[in-house]
Amino acid sequence: MMIRKIGIIGAMEEEVEALRAKLEHPEKMTRASMDFYSGVLEGREAVIVRSGIGKVNAGICTQILADVFHVDAVINTGIAGSLAAQIDIGDIVVSTDTVQHDMDATGFGYDLGVIPRMETSCFEADKALVEAAVAACREAVPEIKVFTGRIVSGDQFVSDRETKDRIAKVFGGMCTEMEGAAIAQAAWLNRIPFVIIRAISDKADDSATMDYPAFERQAIAHSVALVRNFVGRLA
Ligand code: ADE
Repeated sequence: MMIRKIGIIGAMEEEVEALRAKLEHPEKMTRASMDFYSGVLEGREAVIVRSGIGKVNAGICTQILADVFHVDAVINTGIAGSLAAQIDIGDIVVSTDTVQHDMDATGFGYDLGVIPRMETSCFEADKALVEAAVAACREAVPEIKVFTGRIVSGDQFVSDRETKDRIAKVFGGMCTEMEGAAIAQAAWLNRIPFVIIRAISDKADDSATMDYPAFERQAIAHSVALVRNFVGRLA
C-alpha cells in the first residue's frame, strides 16, 4: 500500500498539541469548527486534527480528511475503557475491527449493532496498518502490553458494570470508546484504510470516572511516541 498522506485524529487537545509541535511546515485550516494542521511528520505528509467527542464529530472529521485533504489512510488515537479482564489500565488495544454498540434497530428485526441496509456493520482495520501499529507500540513503548482485537464504540461513557457486561457479552470487544467505529465507517465508505489505537484509561465500570484524570498525562506521552514511530514506518 502506498500512503502519501496520513490523517491523524487525536482525541485530546493536549495530545494533538504535542503531535502538532513535531509537525514541520504546519498550515492550519478550519472546517466544521475543527482545526486541521497539515505538514510533514517524520518525513511524511500528515494532517493532524482533534475531532471532538462522539460519533458525529468523528464521522464529520473523517469525511473532511477524505474530501478536503485527500488522505490515503486514517489513524485514530485516544483512550478507552477495558471490556476484558486481562486488559488493564495502561495497556494498548489496536483495532482489528469496530462495531457500534448503540446502533439499535432491533425493533425493526435487526441484531443489535447492525446498521440497516448497509453491506457491513463491522468495519475491518487495514492489516498492514494494524501490523505497523503493533510494531510501533513494541518499539516506542516496550514496557506497555499491546492487544489486537475488536473495538466497540457508542455515544456513551460506559461507567457501570451492568452496561459494561452487556456490551462485552453482545459484541465481544476488547475496549469501548466513543469515536472509533464512526471513523471506521466513514473511512470504509470512502475506501480509505484505517486503524484505531487506544490506551486503556479505565475499566468501564463503577471505578471508571475516578481513574481517568490520573491516567491522562501518561497516555498522551505514550501516544505521541507511538504515533511518530508508526508514521515513520509507513512505506
Ligand atoms: N473513553 C475512555 N473510557 C471510556 C469509557 N469507559 N466509555 C466510553 N469511552 C471511554
